[in-house]
Amino acid sequence: MAEIQICSNLIHLRNDHISYALYLLPGGIPMHLYFGARLNEINPLPFLRRSMLSEDGSFSVQQCALDHTPQEYPSFGLGDARQGAVGVRRSDGTRSVDLRFVSAEIVDEKPALEGLPATFGESCQTLRLLLRDALTGLAAELFYTIFDDCDAIARSVRFQNEGSDALYLESAFSLCLDLPDSRYDLLTLSGAWARERGMVRRPLFAGEQGVSSARGASSAQASPFLALLRSETTEASGEVYGMALVYSGNFRASVQVDQYDSARVLMGLNDFDFEWKLEAGERFQTPEALLVFSNGGLDGMSAQFHRLCDWHLTRGAYARKPRPVLINNWEATYFDFNEEKLLSIARTAASVGVELFVLDDGWFGRRDDDTTSLGDWQVDTRKLPAGMDGLIDKIHALNMRFGLWFEPEMVSPESELYRAHPDWCIHIDGRERIESRNQLTLDLSRADVCEHVYHAVADMLGAHQIDYVKWDMNRSFSNIGSALLPPDRQKELPHRYMLGLYGVLERLLQAFPHVLFESCASGGGRFDLGMLHYMPQTWCSDNTDALSRCFIQYGTSLVFPPHTMGAHVSAVPNHQTGRLTSLEARFGAAAFGAFGYELDLNRLSPEELEAVRLQIHRFKDMRGLLFFGAFHRLLSPHDGAYTAWMTVSRERDEAVLMVMRMQAQASNVPPVIVRLRGLDESLRYLVVETGEIYGGDELMRSGLCCALSQGDAACGLYMLKKA
Ligand code: GLA
Repeated sequence: MAEIQICSNLIHLRNDHISYALYLLPGGIPMHLYFGARLNEINPLPFLRRSMLSEDGSFSVQQCALDHTPQEYPSFGLGDARQGAVGVRRSDGTRSVDLRFVSAEIVDEKPALEGLPATFGESCQTLRLLLRDALTGLAAELFYTIFDDCDAIARSVRFQNEGSDALYLESAFSLCLDLPDSRYDLLTLSGAWARERGMVRRPLFAGEQGVSSARGASSAQASPFLALLRSETTEASGEVYGMALVYSGNFRASVQVDQYDSARVLMGLNDFDFEWKLEAGERFQTPEALLVFSNGGLDGMSAQFHRLCDWHLTRGAYARKPRPVLINNWEATYFDFNEEKLLSIARTAASVGVELFVLDDGWFGRRDDDTTSLGDWQVDTRKLPAGMDGLIDKIHALNMRFGLWFEPEMVSPESELYRAHPDWCIHIDGRERIESRNQLTLDLSRADVCEHVYHAVADMLGAHQIDYVKWDMNRSFSNIGSALLPPDRQKELPHRYMLGLYGVLERLLQAFPHVLFESCASGGGRFDLGMLHYMPQTWCSDNTDALSRCFIQYGTSLVFPPHTMGAHVSAVPNHQTGRLTSLEARFGAAAFGAFGYELDLNRLSPEELEAVRLQIHRFKDMRGLLFFGAFHRLLSPHDGAYTAWMTVSRERDEAVLMVMRMQAQASNVPPVIVRLRGLDESLRYLVVETGEIYGGDELMRSGLCCALSQGDAACGLYMLKKA
């Protein structure tokens, strides 16, 4: 049960497993005391001593006491020279803010955030701490929600200018966590297009470190997540703090190790290229950050994030529902298709059990390549002479659902839309409009552009029976300027863009609740908890190579449940890496995700097509288990030879295991022994593929012996059932 106690100056939030405590210093600065495993009681004295404050906590700002005091929401200028969570400039140019306690309130619910994605739920309690700066009139409400069923705290901040002059927020982080020591490793997810979310782990060092994005999207290069773990922490055991932002735009997640080896974590909007003008009376809402603690290693941390995602974040008809097996025509045809070509793929797909046909890029305007037509969302009747309905009816007649690709946030300079509204894109007058993939970004900080974008998609969804939408976004921001924003609000553009986008997505979700949405940004360039609030799955990467996917999906699973990761079996040689892998390996890598195919099935041999039919049959058998079960990483591709992961049913009576040897090895390679996790140690399990029976304890302590075939990407998929 989540509970919050306020006892004189001490505030203690806790549930069955975690505690979070803070202390109001005389004068009203909220000091951070503790976040970690549950405590029955907490005495602030040791924390006051550690901060070199007097025993009643009193201090004088002149002594720079705040420079070594852990705080809940520190600002720059009061003697703490570390990075602050909030920075404010007044109209006279001075930049100091002094937030002091006004009131604390407990609410029996999770308040929604204004215009931003956030967790929701009834089984929780929220602390609302109101602080105020007497000189400027800036009020800050700090929100902390603790859940009954997740070992997590959701944090966000809402500012209001209660003064009479305009203020400029120069930084406004969602969370600050001051930890008393810095003996941690920092774990982040870093990468690039086609190799998103690789795990990077290194010890903290004195000074600043972290990840950020200034690309306009959360990005393939850095994920809005970080974890701090003890050097001895592994997948299966040890302390971990995990933090992730529910946001899809520019962010910063940083750790600063100070002179006394304390570690300060900040997470929130990127303060680089950010500023927000707050006129008298105006409010500003930061994104939400999720703070997880686990004593059970990275596995324990991921379990908490997966639960938050499944139970408190994703919405819509498909949020807690297994997904249809899909086929996407992109790698099968690229732009070169007509109705008959699509139908021939669809017919074969239907015959082997595929349930959803997705028409990707190239169906609108005159889009024969990527140089034109984004913005002109009218069906190209050269390719589809019977129109969209003609195709959809035929797909539905095959007993398949129909899905369609859009890239609504973009415009091609070669388009009707651009010719009509050249000022609708992000640009700076007098500067070159830098194209990327021959396209420009629509300025979603503008209400008129958002209205247009909403209707471009809503009109199609309203007019045709579309069951699924792939929402793509294929470039970063450059020359960031808006034709409508005044000079002192230009730095608001990236965040206003996100507010505009979220507004459009919210309207679409409400208007078309039956549609399954999948988000995409050149693959996994905007795979974050923000997008998952509107769309329950994300195309994980443009790289569909089975071996590459082991790395990408392994890292992605640190925060995101596997069923949120779009994962397809594609053709070989793989179009991104040129690698040859077996059909089993491609299936093994994709089956744990939002599963589908992305190739021309008509080019397969009859034997291969039969293998695909069996795969789909097998997938449907495991679909419920994979979707609702608990996921565990077992062997990391980063450690070298093997990748292994598994999913165990909630009842722990069934499990599926995937093991892949990454590279072929010469001579006789002995079978690999994989220690399983999450089983019931008192049960016995039948390994369906071998017919052998083992105890759960044996499988977890001694391991399962997996004999794989020769060659690269040799893959084994094992089904375990209670014997
Ligand atoms: C992006 C996506 C791909 C595909 C293409 C279409 O690259 O990530 O999956 O949809 O666009 O142009």
